[in-house]
This record gives sequence, C-alpha cells and structure tokens, in this order.
Amino acid sequence: MLPSEIDNLIREAKSALKKAIAPYSGFTVGAALIANNGKIYHGCNIENPSLMLSFCAERAALINAIVEGERYFKAIAIVSGNGEYCFPCGACRQMLAEFAPDMEIYLVSDKGIKKFSVDELLPHRFKKI
Ligand code: THU
Repeated sequence: MLPSEIDNLIREAKSALKKAIAPYSGFTVGAALIANNGKIYHGCNIENPSLMLSFCAERAALINAIVEGERYFKAIAIVSGNGEYCFPCGACRQMLAEFAPDMEIYLVSDKGIKKFSVDELLPHRFKKI
C-alpha cells in the first residue's frame, strides 16, 4: 500500500468509527477494509443488550465486503474511540486469516500507526485440511 492509500484507509476507518453502536461497553471501534480492486468497505462494532450478540468492527467490514461479492483484500485499518490501539480479538483474527491471509493490518492510535501481517497476529492458526 502507498502512503497516500494508507492515509485514505485510515480516514475511512475514522469515518466508520462514527457509526459504531456501543452503548453497553462505551468502547467504539471502526474499521475500513480495502479490496484488491480498490473498493473500501466500512465496519463498526454493533452491540446488543444480549451482550454475546455484540459484533466487532473487523468482522462487520469483512461481512459487508463479502456480501457485495469481494473475496480478495489488500488491507484493513482499525481505530478505536479511546485513542488507544485496538488489537483485533481472536475471533476477528481467525476470520481475517481465512479471507485475507496476505492482508496488511494497520492499527491506529493517537500516538501513531502500527502495521502487522495476519501471520504476526495469528501464528499457527486453525485450518481445516
Ligand atoms: N470490539 C471490536 O469491535 N473489535 C475488536 O477487535 C475488539 C472488540 C468491540 C466489541 C465490543 O462491542 C467492544 O469492542 C468492547 O469489547
């Protein structure tokens, strides 16, 4: 990804953050996922009073893209409302690994940007072979 593409993806993740629905945890998360064709898909966390039904921003972005027919992805940017780095939860890592194993992952905080590969965040992942 070019620096300008990364900047744009982060802007989109901040825009997705505004759509988060997190009245129970107070912890808002936004994600922007860019497909290989350059299209960007938003995700945000969506909470429910039945707390187990709450949905993470990363998986929301993936599902948003997949239902639109996308299958190949370049990168995802993830931002949280508290200004700290938001590392994807285990379930999101497994799903990102399944659909985008070569993707770049950008975590954004008030202090800067960290870049990870899927393998770094989820080594030795479960695969059905
Ligand atoms: N959350 C995400 O959206 N992504 C993550 O990677 C970690 C957690 C959400 C789920 C829940 O709505 C809130 O953050 C607090 O756990």
